[in-house]
Amino acid sequence: MKNICKLKATLSDCGKVRESTRIKKLIPKNGVYASYVNVDGQKFKGAVNIGIKPTFEQLTPTVEVHILNFNHDIYDKKIKLELITRIRDEIEFPNLEALKNQIATDILHIQNLLT
Ligand SMILES: Cc1cc2nc3c(=O)[nH]c(=O)nc-3n(C[C@H](O)[C@H](O)[C@H](O)COP(=O)(O)O)c2cc1C
Repeated sequence: MKNICKLKATLSDCGKVRESTRIKKLIPKNGVYASYVNVDGQKFKGAVNIGIKPTFEQLTPTVEVHILNFNHDIYDKKIKLELITRIRDEIEFPNLEALKNQIATDILHIQNLLT
């Protein structure tokens, strides 16, 4: 993955290391996150997967969100994600059925985790 941020460490007068970070683009670690999703000012719970979908050998990293209890077409709409906590690693599943079962478990977990 590309360099995602530029970190510059400088020594302050008292001798301690001070870090000044200029973030260019910060991508969280691959995995599944319990999140809030803001759509048109309304807040929903979401299951977010960040990564390369190893089950399908996708090469480019993507951010994919499943919005809980939501059934509208929001194609091309801007949404805002608030990642609350990382619940697991993104892994390779032996088949689609196993992946679907895990996503269903993730959704239940997130439903209970977020208020
Ligand atoms: C909550 C969530 C968790 C996911 N976890 C994984 C995972 O662990 N491994 C994986 O290969 N893909 C994972 N995916 C991605 C799925 O592979 C993807 O949703 C599915 O393949 C459909 O992709 P498509 O819409 O590009 O066809 C996850 C997706 C979601 C929404």
